[in-house]
Amino acid sequence: MHLRKRLVLMAGYLGLLVFALFILGFAAYSLRFGLRGISLDLSDETYIYTSDSAFTNIAIFSHMILGAVAMILVPFQPIERIRRRYPLLHRIVGRVIVVASIVVALGGLAYIAIRGTIAGPLMDAGFAFYGALMLGCAIQTLRHARARNVALHSVWALRLFVLVMGSLIFRLHYVIWYSLTDGLWSNEQLTGGFDQVQYVAFYLPYLLALEIWLRRRARAGP
Ligand code: HEM
Repeated sequence: MHLRKRLVLMAGYLGLLVFALFILGFAAYSLRFGLRGISLDLSDETYIYTSDSAFTNIAIFSHMILGAVAMILVPFQPIERIRRRYPLLHRIVGRVIVVASIVVALGGLAYIAIRGTIAGPLMDAGFAFYGALMLGCAIQTLRHARARNVALHSVWALRLFVLVMGSLIFRLHYVIWYSLTDGLWSNEQLTGGFDQVQYVAFYLPYLLALEIWLRRRARAGP
């Protein structure tokens, strides 16, 4: 193999490794936060905890636990070698991801309806749309899998993949933005200009890019 090709390949693997580390780091944070919120009184620690509503706490903290589960499992699903060699495993893990995504979406939507997000109506709208899309994509992924329509199943599964990663991408945008600008147009209440763009920027552009790629792939043929 040429040196240039080899370097490009190595850079690709390195990028994947860094992304995998980010996934593991955020999933561990989300899992720990969720488990602590379900089992302890976190009222002194976070505004997300509701001291007088067990239902709201179960909704948002189980959302974090199952969000972590979906995020760790979902990168394995598109790998063709695993799908072909272990179809039963693909089906079981797929069902776990779909159920987890449905709970994540419903938990987030319930929290928005009861408590609202930290930044108010605009963030509520952006996040509620995110939750509705996740719910829809999870149901469509399962529906087409059960109907054995592999082509449609994989298209909806890819959309779900992007949405599950959205929560991590939201945080990555902040890491990059804060390291470049020291938090310009952003504040703790998430009401700054940058924050407002973030209400949808962590999933819509990526879904759009996926749709463009899917259309190009369809036009190119098998
Ligand atoms: C795999 C996907 C997801 C994971 C891993 C995840 C994880 C988390 C975590 C860890 C938090 C705590 C806030 C923080 O410390 O940053 C959180 C908050 C929240 N999440 Fe999710 N989430 C996911 C998807 C969603 C979806 C689809 C919705 C939309 C319904 C949503 C709505 C919310 C809301 C409204 C909050 C509270 C925001 C606030 O006011 O601070 N999340 N989530």
